[in-house]
Amino acid sequence: MNIRVKALLATAVFAVLGIGAVYAWPIGKSEPQTALSGNIAKGGYLARASGCIACHTNLAKGGAPLAGGVEIKTPFGTIYSPNLTTDKKFGIGNWTQAQFAKAIRQGIRPDGQPYYPAFPYAFYANFTDQDIADLWAAFQTVPAMAEPSQEMDLGFPFNQRWGLKIWRAAYLEPPATAPVTGNSALWNRGRLLVEGAAHCAACHTARNLAGARLSDTEHFRGNPDLPDGGKAPAIDMNSLMKNGWDVDNLAYALKSAVMPDGDTFSGSMAEVVFNGTSFLNQQDRKAIATYLLDTHEGG
Ligand code: HEC
Ligand code: HEC
Repeated sequence: MNIRVKALLATAVFAVLGIGAVYAWPIGKSEPQTALSGNIAKGGYLARASGCIACHTNLAKGGAPLAGGVEIKTPFGTIYSPNLTTDKKFGIGNWTQAQFAKAIRQGIRPDGQPYYPAFPYAFYANFTDQDIADLWAAFQTVPAMAEPSQEMDLGFPFNQRWGLKIWRAAYLEPPATAPVTGNSALWNRGRLLVEGAAHCAACHTARNLAGARLSDTEHFRGNPDLPDGGKAPAIDMNSLMKNGWDVDNLAYALKSAVMPDGDTFSGSMAEVVFNGTSFLNQQDRKAIATYLLDTHEGG
């Protein structure tokens, strides 16, 4: 959908349904009850690749793993990541696997209300049932921490969760992770990681005033205006090549944060490497670099 159509759709939905009805408007689909058994090591690996641990652990304040409280500044106010430990009161210790799946793949709370897109669930929409089972198994091993999640600090109307249903109708799109036939297994693995779990576009693609990524026109063309005040450069193939990147030096930078010119990544990219890509295996880092730099830009 182009932006105009999306805006019209959002307005129309709002006008027709009215506020009360939008609040009650059911969103999402039910998640299957699966009997798949999860693999803790694979779930831990996927959690690293996806930034779950980084974004839900307040390292700056010495917070316990996955106990939440990381401050995320947005143009609409401040959002805090919640406690994901097994604590039954303050964490997700009372959740079912289906509720967990619905939060991650669909961005919907157990009570049916939507999550803020600061939780990058849009990128996780194509996680398989096995991925969810693996993550679930890994999360069961996290020690309970009795720490309440922090209240969001958002002004009106952004503190009204139901309003996000309109946002979702206008902007939420599944990630382009499907394999492209004819391209190598390595390239397709890179596509799955880059467009999905590793959510590189969350920072490297510019956003509109509603905070939605301009995926049609600006994908990977950089974001001069990150919420933390930083700038993410373009990482489309042409820009990377012009700046001296190749598959080997990019795979190396994703491990070490050292760039081809000897300088090191700073700001949020340093965190992406030290909390995320440095934990991946060499093959996966090469896959990411191959996807971004290979000439089959297809798909
Ligand atoms: C960029 C930061 C970020 C990343 C990465 C991230 N999350 Fe979150 N997550 C959030 C925020 C912020 C919220 C709260 C959103 C809201 O309340 O609207 C959230 C909410 C959640 C919730 C709902 C918890 C509750 O109490 O309702 C679950 C479950 C969750 N995240 C799991 C994950 C998993 C699993 C991953 C990795 C696959 C992940 N998150 C990656 C920021 C992040
Ligand atoms: C949380 C935001 C964020 C995410 C997510 C992110 N990046 Fe970055 N990236 C940045 C920032 C900020 C910089 C600039 C770093 C600097 O100036 O030192 C950067 C720089 C880069 C550069 C250097 C480009 C150049 O020519 O200078 C590459 C390559 C890169 N990122 C690749 C990736 C890949 C691949 C992913 C996904 C695995 C990713 N980034 C995810 C924020 C992010």
